[in-house]
Amino acid sequence: MPAYAVIGGQWGDEGKGKIIDYLASQAKIVARYSGGNNAGHTVINNKGKFAFHLIPCGIAWDNVTNVIGNGVVVDPNVLIEEIEKIKKANLPGKILISNKSHVVMPYHIELDRLEELSRGNTSIGTTGRGIGPAYVDKVARSGIRMDEILSPLVLQKKLSEIVENKNKIIQKIYNSTPISIENTTNSIFRWNRELSTYIGDIDKVLDKSLKNNEKIILEGAQGSLLDIDHGTYPYVTSSSPTIGGAITGLGISPSKIKSSIGIYKAYCTRVGSGPFPTEIIGKIGDKIRQEAGEFGTTTGRGRRIGWFDAVAGKFSQKINGFDSIIITRLDTLDTWDEIKVCVKYEFEGKEIENFSINNEILSKCKPIYETFPGWKSSTFGMKKFYDLPTEAKNYLSFIEKTLSSKISLISTGPKREEVIEIDNPIKDS
Ligand code: GDP
Ligand code: IMO
Ligand code: MG
Repeated sequence: MPAYAVIGGQWGDEGKGKIIDYLASQAKIVARYSGGNNAGHTVINNKGKFAFHLIPCGIAWDNVTNVIGNGVVVDPNVLIEEIEKIKKANLPGKILISNKSHVVMPYHIELDRLEELSRGNTSIGTTGRGIGPAYVDKVARSGIRMDEILSPLVLQKKLSEIVENKNKIIQKIYNSTPISIENTTNSIFRWNRELSTYIGDIDKVLDKSLKNNEKIILEGAQGSLLDIDHGTYPYVTSSSPTIGGAITGLGISPSKIKSSIGIYKAYCTRVGSGPFPTEIIGKIGDKIRQEAGEFGTTTGRGRRIGWFDAVAGKFSQKINGFDSIIITRLDTLDTWDEIKVCVKYEFEGKEIENFSINNEILSKCKPIYETFPGWKSSTFGMKKFYDLPTEAKNYLSFIEKTLSSKISLISTGPKREEVIEIDNPIKDS
């Protein structure tokens, strides 16, 4: 029965990659269930430093099968590149791609760019990886699934017509240059050669593991506040990073999920547009970004920085039902004089305690903070809770209490072993 969902509790980049690489030694399968190569998951271990976009973060462990679920959209060119990199680095994990996952085609990437341009100053700030347009085609029932790459001749015929139609949109609506039908239809033969051996039926593999009582980590991408339904719409991604997505994105029954685990940074970041009530704008935010190296793993864009938002944090705790939470980047706060946590918002003179899904309201919400003294000493690389400064312990205990969730792990550095284990969240009970 044991499947464990590891989910971002904020706006992404919470350190999911680092934590999943740490936990994966105990697992038989690590499975991605949503998003595509808009994700960038950093892993630093004894094999090197990696940024995974599509391949799950159990890949550095022998005997772990890394599943790309049906809920993921796959850019085959990016996946081929990523597979080459992991082969070069001799990463031993196995890879299996769901035959039901959808393909991000070159026209999706072009449409993502054109749609963003046409949004002007209301642009979402997407990663430009074609993610939204690929999910649009999936839902419109006109997408291409990985299964079709196994029959390139059949797909080639169908694809010419699809590209022709997409080019009409590109030319007539956006007044832009059409994409090459020939290049697009030719690339499917390369995808067939390079990826066929990895494409298959994930249902059987997941089912067998669950029957054998082996552990499966369901790897979240993005973060709960970017969820297409529950996030700060329209400034969201086009999939479901929350617990519901883990179920539909892999075809796992909810009864098989033993626990849902939320990952939160000790502060907040956000990439792209959209409301961010606790954002630290100006020189202080810029300084923190530089010192903490808060730049996107996928696009290199500077991440917006903010204080820990417990109102937003509680909201994701609730929709995902986190059984425990993990706090990352505690060490990043080491030099701060004081540390703030937003406990309520003020909206038009009234205090509100609940996260709002209305962007108009959320962008006018002013944070009400509880302020904590900084600890002004290094926690970097610490492995024992006992060694943490009292101020850090108090800060963590406040977050725990406010989110009504036990902290199971605390990350104190980017490397695999830089973790304080309070209660291993996927241990045998
Ligand atoms: P993900 O998308 O959730 O996997 O997160 P990213 O990899 O995009 O961003 C997290 C960044 O924080 C990466 O650069 C990690 O190497 C780094 N990181 C993760 N945990 C820690 C930590 O505890 N301390 C520090 N200093 N860096 C961390
Ligand atoms: P990981 O898995 C942070 C954001 C983009 C943009 C919005 C929509 O590394 O945490 P999209 O390209 O998905 O249509 O962009 O979502 N976004 C992320 N932000 N981390 C991510 O992934 C993200 N994936 C998408 O910046 O605001
Ligand atoms: Mg990331």
